[in-house]
Amino acid sequence: MSSNRKDDHVQLAEELNTKNRAAGGFHDVRFMHHTFNGLARDGVDTSTTVAGARWEVPFYINAMTGGSEKTGRINADLARAASTAGVAMASGSVSAALRDPALEPTFRIVRESAPQSFLFANVSPEATVEQARRAVELLDANALQVHVNPAQELVMPEGDRDFRHWLDRIAEIVEAVDVPVVVKEVGFGLSADSVAELAARGVTTVDVSGRGGTNFIDIENHRRSRQEYTYLSGWGQSTPECLLDTVHGPGGAPTVHVLASGGVRTPLDVVRALALGARAVGVSGHFLHVLLTDGPDALVEELGAWTDQVRTLMTLLGAPDVPSLTSTDLLVTGETAEFARLRGIDLPSLARRR
Ligand SMILES: Cc1cc2nc3c(=O)[nH]c(=O)nc-3n(C[C@H](O)[C@H](O)[C@H](O)COP(=O)(O)O)c2cc1C
Repeated sequence: MSSNRKDDHVQLAEELNTKNRAAGGFHDVRFMHHTFNGLARDGVDTSTTVAGARWEVPFYINAMTGGSEKTGRINADLARAASTAGVAMASGSVSAALRDPALEPTFRIVRESAPQSFLFANVSPEATVEQARRAVELLDANALQVHVNPAQELVMPEGDRDFRHWLDRIAEIVEAVDVPVVVKEVGFGLSADSVAELAARGVTTVDVSGRGGTNFIDIENHRRSRQEYTYLSGWGQSTPECLLDTVHGPGGAPTVHVLASGGVRTPLDVVRALALGARAVGVSGHFLHVLLTDGPDALVEELGAWTDQVRTLMTLLGAPDVPSLTSTDLLVTGETAEFARLRGIDLPSLARRR
């Protein structure tokens, strides 16, 4: 391992993501095919609204990195690609730069490389209100992500061990910053109960970020000398499970807007998540993989190809716009259906929504 945690995370995310392509539950979510979609592809509108802003593309490059020379270069490449392709992007946690101002350029480069893009800054709930404001300033960010990652922290050798103040701190940050705040998991999934706790603290948008892609228990476990947490690899809810739980649970639709990420590997996964009720869909590991293996031009191409294919899939499904995807017929089977049964979610009504 390198001497820098941010460099380790990038290296391990790439190694582990390509090695164990764990199924994230998206394969359990199928669309009912109806032949007469009634649409012209050119007329399909892929735009969505997130944190009060209109995005032309309903997916985004989710939080990853910054905080070292190497990850600063990755941030620049990601941001240039996001800007060219017209997609939104989040920086990785700004915490390192809040402690050491010498690292600020590795985050500032995101705004410099994407001057017109919708950008999220990212902090942990350990950040003070002042630090959260500073993170927004650093990126001239349109919104702030606060990541909540207890599973990662507990397995991380040098991670946090006391989580008592997190909800109170989130409420303070929501109150104090003058941009919208999105609270996100990092690949273990927000439950309906966790989302309700956040809604009660004034949070209006969450990213459920479920299991199935980048796995920070595995990543942190590889950084431990004894690697004793191998058995914890399957912890958490998959992204489809999170969306079923938070959007379709017996408690009714949430009062917050829901974004989805975690294990999204194809444009079909994007459309599946939108159909399950996400307003937009975040992708980290896959876009990082394209950048690291094929370079920045390939990432721009990939972002454009995904935008094109999302439009094609919406046409096939007869959905003229993103909200219409939530009235497509969804067939949920396998382990995800078992999860839904246990959590009291009505799957037959999803299969006949049209
Ligand atoms: C290299 C790497 C670093 C990450 N660092 C952060 C971070 O600083 N803050 C955060 O909120 N999420 C971070 N994440 C988590 C992602 O935003 C996302 O929640 C998670 O990777 C699941 O999405 P994926 O399966 O598409 O990778 C990181 C992901 C990767 C791959």
